[in-house]
Amino acid sequence: MNKPQQALLTAFKAACASAAVFALLAASVAQAADAGNGKVLSESHNCAACHGANLNKPVSPEYPKLAGQHADYIYWALRQYQMGNGNPHLGRNNAIMQAQVQSLSQGDMKDIAAYIESLNGDLVQKK
Ligand code: HEC
Repeated sequence: MNKPQQALLTAFKAACASAAVFALLAASVAQAADAGNGKVLSESHNCAACHGANLNKPVSPEYPKLAGQHADYIYWALRQYQMGNGNPHLGRNNAIMQAQVQSLSQGDMKDIAAYIESLNGDLVQKK
């Protein structure tokens, strides 16, 4: 390999390394959800009125169990209810849940999702 090629390769490696560090930093910022605040929000929004005690005992079979579900899935489900408002092509189109999430910020939803993931639930199949 000649000198210019080598220099290019070195520069490329350095760029990759800093991109990787950047990605790690971004991931740790994204994970800064606050489950304690999620608990406060889920209580003030009365999520348990339908999803039941510890969000694990829904009052009716139409209401899903939430406790223990992955935070990423919960966050995305909540986002979809928000985005689907009035437009079934953009997200989830359930009138009950759409009403629940309209006042929540993305940070609120991440906190609620972290709280839900932290709960013990019977969604996990026993092995
Ligand atoms: C008035 C009853 C009611 C209340 C209050 C309520 N939910 Fe729901 N929730 C539902 C129903 C019904 C569904 C199923 C909707 C559907 O079919 O998409 C649902 C679905 C969900 C889902 C999707 C679950 C999955 O597995 O896909 C999440 C997440 C959720 N609710 C979170 C919440 C949170 C967080 C709150 C409080 C901010 C809340 N819910 C308050 C009735 C309610």
